[in-house]
Amino acid sequence: MRSSKRRNYLTLFYGLLLSLSTIYLGPTNGKICGPSIDIGNDFSDFSRLENCTVVEGYLQILLIGDKNGGVNQEIFRTLSFPKLTVITDYLLLFRVAGLDSLSTLFPNLTVIRGHNLFYNYALVIFEMTSLKDIGLYNLRNITRGAIRIEKNA
Ligand SMILES: *[C@@H]1O[C@H](CO)[C@@H](O)[C@H](O)[C@H]1NC(C)=O
Ligand SMILES: *[C@@H]1O[C@H](CO)[C@@H](O)[C@H](O)[C@H]1NC(C)=O
Ligand SMILES: *[C@@H]1O[C@H](CO)[C@@H](O)[C@H](O)[C@H]1NC(C)=O
Repeated sequence: MRSSKRRNYLTLFYGLLLSLSTIYLGPTNGKICGPSIDIGNDFSDFSRLENCTVVEGYLQILLIGDKNGGVNQEIFRTLSFPKLTVITDYLLLFRVAGLDSLSTLFPNLTVIRGHNLFYNYALVIFEMTSLKDIGLYNLRNITRGAIRIEKNA
């Protein structure tokens, strides 16, 4: 009698533990995206970054024109991926019209590991026609690779 009660108690205990761990580990474990993400031409590509905490591989954002003069800027002001903290390869930005800062886009990007590089670079910001400041305020560690920032507004 006593032992079956104890078993019930243990079952309940482990059941609770299990549901707690799915609640608490789930979101903090986050979502690993990749391998590698290319965003270009179309804003809908950005949906691939939704909820990502880690981009396994590289992240390239390039060749986004602004046909409708100034519309991009409005979109970028509302586009944000605060969960993203780690990119395992490199981050490359090239000719993205209307993006004047990365502060809203990647406010919590902390580490670029540089496992694989773009030539020698872990961070490339090149010919960004609207960029006024980089704004990666939480970027603390580029573990491997160089940085190239060139020909930006
Ligand atoms: C992102 O997370 C939200 C809230 O948890 C969820 O509603 C949505 O479906 C997720 N989107 C993707 C693409 O995982
Ligand atoms: C950065 O991440 C923390 C913890 O995940 C979150 O609370 C915070 O809102 C994020 N920062 C921004 C600027 O979104
Ligand atoms: C960056 O991270 C690596 C690996 O975790 C560590 O060895 C290195 O000391 C860090 N560099 C800085 C400047 O924090």
